[in-house]
Amino acid sequence: MAPWTARRLPHALVLLVLAILSTHTLALDVSDDAVDNVARRSPVLGVPLQRRNPRRHLTEDEYGAWAQRQVEYLRAKYGGTSSEDKRAIGTAGLANQNTDSTFYASVGFGTPLEQYNLILDTGSADTWIAGADCTTGCDGVKRFAANASSTFRDQNRPFTVHYGSASARGSLGRDVVQMAGFEVQDQLFALVESVTSNKPLLHSPVSGLMGLAFRGIAASGGMPFWLRLANGGVFDRPMMSFCLTRFLDVDGASALEPGGYFTLGGVNSSLYSGDIDFVPLPDEGQTYWELPLKTFSVNGATIPLANDSTSDAAIDTGTTLIGAPTAIIDQMMTHIPGSFSGQDEYEAYFMYPCNSSVQVQFSFGSRLWTVGPRDFKLIEFSNGTCVSSFFRLSPGSSSPKWIIGDTFLKTVYSVFQYDPPAIGFATLSKTALELSTVGGELPRPSQGASVVITGASSPRIAHPVLSSLFGLSFFIFYILLTL
Ligand SMILES: *[C@@H]1O[C@H](CO)[C@@H](O)[C@H](O)[C@H]1NC(C)=O
Ligand SMILES: *[C@@H]1O[C@H](CO)[C@@H](O)[C@H](O)[C@H]1NC(C)=O
Ligand SMILES: *[C@@H]1O[C@H](CO)[C@@H](O)[C@H](O)[C@H]1NC(C)=O
Ligand SMILES: *[C@@H]1O[C@H](CO)[C@@H](O)[C@H](O)[C@H]1NC(C)=O
Ligand SMILES: *[C@@H]1O[C@H](CO)[C@@H](O)[C@H](O)[C@H]1NC(C)=O
Repeated sequence: MAPWTARRLPHALVLLVLAILSTHTLALDVSDDAVDNVARRSPVLGVPLQRRNPRRHLTEDEYGAWAQRQVEYLRAKYGGTSSEDKRAIGTAGLANQNTDSTFYASVGFGTPLEQYNLILDTGSADTWIAGADCTTGCDGVKRFAANASSTFRDQNRPFTVHYGSASARGSLGRDVVQMAGFEVQDQLFALVESVTSNKPLLHSPVSGLMGLAFRGIAASGGMPFWLRLANGGVFDRPMMSFCLTRFLDVDGASALEPGGYFTLGGVNSSLYSGDIDFVPLPDEGQTYWELPLKTFSVNGATIPLANDSTSDAAIDTGTTLIGAPTAIIDQMMTHIPGSFSGQDEYEAYFMYPCNSSVQVQFSFGSRLWTVGPRDFKLIEFSNGTCVSSFFRLSPGSSSPKWIIGDTFLKTVYSVFQYDPPAIGFATLSKTALELSTVGGELPRPSQGASVVITGASSPRIAHPVLSSLFGLSFFIFYILLTL
């Protein structure tokens, strides 16, 4: 039917881009500002959460460290200051949907706990899920039945996000949210009633999205799930990390493949090698996970970057591709002979001859990172024309001018550190690269949590100015290509 064949993509390809474009003034949700309480449960069998407890067989060094921790534990218990004993690290297995289009994890909601698949998105800060009343854009999607949860609390407040030409709306509620062995009670999230766009946004088995950015861009004004945990001081290390798989040009890849690992509260050292190159966030961790690009080149030709906010790039696991300013795309094309701008549904993209091998390199800190020919090439038409995985981004004035998504993030180990705020990248280990093998086991949903953040007991008003300054609306650039 279609005048082309997507040779590299054996099935429907879904490209999802989540980025934040304009601003809204929003009501601030203050109830998360009270100090949360941290409770601990006995570890539940099968929960992928690593406690910092001594193991059975200890080496001499480990025994020394264990002995020291015991002293710290006792000091803490009897008036000392160490909180070493309560720190934990959790892991969520990811699934890779539609050959690197989206990466999702299983998240539990409500009482009794029900599991839903949510896209993990470092480019936004709200959590939302298809609600039981969702009438538009939720076909075939598992929905959250609020009235079946004994702990659900309706907030009687509307919630709206804008997706360029599309939008999603619903209302806010609070309930238990559990992921990677951590549980937050009374977590604010949105139940979406309508997702309107020209193409479906949610594809079963995905029911929603969890935002992992900072509170300053939360449309709900509420404290994100991960920040409630971070503020509770429960993490082993002040960071969360991603290892993403790649199946874009892998023969025989199916619509669902293993997606790698999300580590909450630390790193997984089996998934990277060498050092992690950390670069501080210019806004010190208020809004986006965003870094200024230092250098950018195409096939060895340097493209000059301004030393200002036009070089700021959101590092966004919820975006499939790489969005760059129009002026940069124009310059890239001059270095790729035979390239031309796409039309109609490819308007934001550019085409180039498939037989040219394009390599893009850029840096944020001390290391140079490469997007090689196989990731640069998004779609291969039968007439020898290819579509690049870089697209033109013309965002609103307050949002990042670049969005660096999974096209890059699946080639590195990425670490999002909130204290001090920084993003780090490292080389994927052999073990990590081997996860991109067809037919691997999909992650199984885990249930249970050993670290629980209980609801805010005494709300107090704090800093209403910051949140109302930022606020958020989304832009989703979304394309569904079918054979
Ligand atoms: C770290 O990654 C490995 C895969 O290399 C995985 O098997 C393991 O469960 C992960 N560790 C934790 C604590 O999740
Ligand atoms: C829950 O709400 C749905 C509609 O939103 C309704 O059809 C259903 O009967 C309700 N279930 C209970 C147990 O109240
Ligand atoms: C970029 O601009 C800042 C001030 O705006 C300045 O301190 C810094 O040295 C500049 N960097 C370069 C590489 O020019
Ligand atoms: C790519 O193919 C075109 C036409 O098929 C040809 O003119 C060109 O020389 C080729 N380029 C390379 C780098 O092979
Ligand atoms: C190849 O086909 C695509 C898709 O139909 C089209 O957009 C592109 O312009 C064609 N390439 C050339 C060189 O005609």
